[in-house]
Amino acid sequence: MMSRFPMIIFIHFIPFLLIICISATDTTAPASINKFREAPKFYNSPTCSKLNYTSTTAICSNNNNNNALAVHVAMTLDLAYLRGSMAVILSILQHTCCPENIIFHFVATSSADNNIKHLNHTIANSFPYLHFKIYPFDDSPVAGLISTSIRAALDCPLNYARNYLAVLLPNCVKKVVYLDSDLVLVDDISKLVATPLGEGAVLAAPEYCNANFTSYFTPTFWSNPSLSLTFANRKPCYFNTGVMVIDLERWRAGDYTRKITEWMELQKRMRIYELGSLPPFLLVFAGNIAPVDHRWNQHGLGGDNFRGLCRDLHPGPVSLLHWSGKGKPWVRLDANRPCPLDALWAPYDLLQTPFLLDS
Ligand SMILES: *[C@@H]1O[C@H](CO)[C@@H](O)[C@H](O)[C@H]1NC(C)=O
Ligand SMILES: *[C@@H]1O[C@H](CO)[C@@H](O)[C@H](O)[C@H]1NC(C)=O
Ligand SMILES: *[C@@H]1O[C@H](CO)[C@@H](O)[C@H](O)[C@H]1NC(C)=O
Repeated sequence: MMSRFPMIIFIHFIPFLLIICISATDTTAPASINKFREAPKFYNSPTCSKLNYTSTTAICSNNNNNNALAVHVAMTLDLAYLRGSMAVILSILQHTCCPENIIFHFVATSSADNNIKHLNHTIANSFPYLHFKIYPFDDSPVAGLISTSIRAALDCPLNYARNYLAVLLPNCVKKVVYLDSDLVLVDDISKLVATPLGEGAVLAAPEYCNANFTSYFTPTFWSNPSLSLTFANRKPCYFNTGVMVIDLERWRAGDYTRKITEWMELQKRMRIYELGSLPPFLLVFAGNIAPVDHRWNQHGLGGDNFRGLCRDLHPGPVSLLHWSGKGKPWVRLDANRPCPLDALWAPYDLLQTPFLLDS
């Protein structure tokens, strides 16, 4: 029991303090209290073509045919959300027809070497058959670009890693699905990857055109024509950056990492938005993205732990459940105050129970 106690305290404050960033760089991180079970091995169904994958360094040494077979998934990894990330991985493997063809690209902060070693070890222990690579992310240049937002948890540099995937991942990776760590899939990810990006879209995501787009930017932004004109000739709609299919070739060709960074630099000088990493994506892409069915991002399920608010599913079919917002299912489950939908996350939790730790 004792060994579990610090974990609960640790997890509990994450959404509200900057611990999220501190913990990621803390070399004395609670390695001993993060005990995860080993996931079962998942096998390709007979209809899958076999990916020729030999080692984690072999991502690019495969032939073109191989590249078409592989499903590339990118996520961030840090100690604070590791339990969530493990659940994402398990949910993907469990629901896809060809689990052996999935290659995971994890981005982790490089400011502490032990951190990456520990994450590498933890993932490899729970998923001994997983094809994955960890990319060290130097977060100090990004940290300098971040202006404080109204939600401290959003200011973590690793939150901005999704903007650098085209730079971090090798050029042979042409398409990637980026996923947040507070979600689970209940459908085959290869269907999401197959989303057509059309003539020129760089990314695909579910769009929400009923959301009040104006509210994502400040009056300073809207009252300055040289800024607000960026949306002229576009029909911008809100989209959530927690689930995106990204064409990395088009991203690289259009130098979008720089374009997003430029808006962040402007934000440092004049406040044009309030939330963290989302608005620069909206500025660059809103109105020009390929649509994805809403079933692939049932977002907002996090609700609010402080106010005890639970969220319901949106109407329609569900392929992906996303606990975005302040509340996280593992926090509520540990506190014995789960929301009804948290029961759908629990089966993917690989954290060992205190009972198993003691045995
Ligand atoms: C798999 O790839 C390696 C090099 O990455 C190559 O030597 C080998 O012949 C390939 N095997 C098959 C069955 O294509
Ligand atoms: C992860 O561990 C494997 C061995 O299990 C090693 O080959 C690889 O270099 C490690 N990666 C990192 C980023 O530490
Ligand atoms: C949208 O948000 C803006 C600013 O937050 C507000 O002024 C406006 O009334 C809202 N529009 C609608 C239709 O709710």
